[in-house]
Amino acid sequence: MKNNIVLIGYMGCGKSTIGLKLAKFCSVPFLDTDQWIEEREGVTISEIFATKGEAYFRELETECLKELLKQEERKIISVGGGLPVREENQKLLKQLGQVIYLKANPETIYERLKGDTSRPLLQTENPLQKIKDMIKDREEKYQAAAGKVLLVDGKSVKEIVEEILDKEKGLK
Ligand code: S3P
Repeated sequence: MKNNIVLIGYMGCGKSTIGLKLAKFCSVPFLDTDQWIEEREGVTISEIFATKGEAYFRELETECLKELLKQEERKIISVGGGLPVREENQKLLKQLGQVIYLKANPETIYERLKGDTSRPLLQTENPLQKIKDMIKDREEKYQAAAGKVLLVDGKSVKEIVEEILDKEKGLK
């Protein structure tokens, strides 16, 4: 197992914001799988979903994990909300390092993502219901992929970062 810190969780739970802060604090690189995919394809996630479909996007997610496993340098990695759903990805995530699930209530997610148009899966009539349904479907998968669960509701970014730094000895 490698020594990366990998943040998983539902869209809007703060993976990228927290990951970036952690990486800065620890002076290690930060990598976001969505960003990796967008850079590789040269288009946005919404465009990939619209032109090539979700299945193609999911293939790229697995490819990104395999690529990361080849790299030696320790990183903070944040992964797209749907990435841990694939069983193969759960195994790859575990090989990458310590996997932390940032767990948030549907209402927290809804408040944070209200008006966001960059998540194709939430462009629906009733996004709150969609969030609830997806969390229900994914919870078991997130738990299977994660080594630790951290509750984020009502906590500031600073508090969450400090909590991770306290738990992950060797990061400070
Ligand atoms: C998705 C989450 C998004 C992005 C894509 C699909 C999902 O990433 O990968 O829109 O299936 O939950 P974030 O969790 O970074 O928003």
